[in-house]
Amino acid sequence: MRLLVTGGAGFIGSTFVRRRLAATDDTIVVLDKLTYAGNTANLDEVTTAADTADRVRFVRGDIADPELVGELVKDVDAVVNFAAESHVDRSILEPAAFLTTGVQGVHTLLEAVMAAQASRGGAPIRFLQVSTDEVYGPVPAGLSVEADALRPSSPYSAAKAAGELLAHAYRETHGLDIVITRGANTYGPHQYPEKLIPLFITNAIMDLPLPMYGDGMQRRDWLHVDDHADGVATVLDRGVAGEAYNVSGEGVERPNRAVTEAVLAELGKPWSLVRTVPDRPGHDRRYALDGSKLRALGWAPRTGFDDGIRQTVRWYRDNEAWWRAGRSGDWDDYYQRQYGWRLERSAQA
Ligand code: NAD
Ligand code: DAU
Repeated sequence: MRLLVTGGAGFIGSTFVRRRLAATDDTIVVLDKLTYAGNTANLDEVTTAADTADRVRFVRGDIADPELVGELVKDVDAVVNFAAESHVDRSILEPAAFLTTGVQGVHTLLEAVMAAQASRGGAPIRFLQVSTDEVYGPVPAGLSVEADALRPSSPYSAAKAAGELLAHAYRETHGLDIVITRGANTYGPHQYPEKLIPLFITNAIMDLPLPMYGDGMQRRDWLHVDDHADGVATVLDRGVAGEAYNVSGEGVERPNRAVTEAVLAELGKPWSLVRTVPDRPGHDRRYALDGSKLRALGWAPRTGFDDGIRQTVRWYRDNEAWWRAGRSGDWDDYYQRQYGWRLERSAQA
């Protein structure tokens, strides 16, 4: 296949690109705006290796740019859209970019797919929208299934829900070949250090406080990034047009306190680093996915949390230059806005 992978310089997108090139003969064009979260170093492995370098091309640009996107979509069999502003806390501080990319950007991609299809006599171009379990909103009990209502709580998840709904509308109205994935909380190497696990790993390495929101009893079923990328690939190859698929974790829910303990144990750092801080507004207490629909296509998560967290901690220890580069630029401003006042009101957890 010839793929356009948008947001492919980010955490999950770059993992998908690396794994897809290793597993198939596909050629891939990566389109990425290189926001603070995008990093071409995530693609070095494939842009420099002899067996993959001629099958991958990087283009810096915005999915909301119709001219650029129109040109790139002309020559592909499928578009896999990872591009998004992805951090809930930033969506509370500054929501506008979430909507520009999540709504206008997705719309631009869909229009480009429709135009390219028409110019090729209607041969379908598959469009995979990478979405999130957060579109279901909090799940006090039971498991979310794909037919459940979407009740997003944050500007981030509302923008993701909007992107999905647009994709669905283009399926219904124009018959486009749309598939959607809804992934669980993902962790692993190459994740920008603003997210819980890499933030706590890198803070703990530096003996800085770990700001745990509220009581730390919010529960998630964590998914390793390799498994998430493989779930997306499975839906790309075998998903039924018009359908959404949950990409679940291994089925073990962990409160944030337990995740924090696992990180500290792996690093040999003390619990006294952990501070309880004022909670994130609109914070969803629990997500839990029923992953059976995707499992029926032959996918299952393969990395257990204990192995995954060990590998992830080791990666951050071994790649200090990578994460220190991420914690530069606007990092201090962001950190101060997000955590300055919270840490002033913090207490020993
Ligand atoms: P990320 O922030 O690491 O990467 C996002 C990438 O998109 C970055 O490389 C960024 O430069 C790029 N980008 C942002 N706006 C763009 C634009 N307008 N045009 C082109 N590129 C743009 O995020 P991630 O964690 O890798 O998430 C990837 C996707 O998976 C997102 O759509 C996210 O909503 C979804 N998702 C993430 C998780 C998770 O736990 N991280 C779980 C489920 C779903
Ligand atoms: O569930 C899928 C989603 O997972 C994705 O759609 C998002 O793109 C991704 O960012 C992630 O969202 P979360 O908000 O769940 O991830 P985050 O790492 O920000 O937070 C995980 C949990 O940890 C959550 O309960 C909030 C808590 N937390 C997070 C941070 C950054 C803290 O207690 N302290 C923190 O400093």
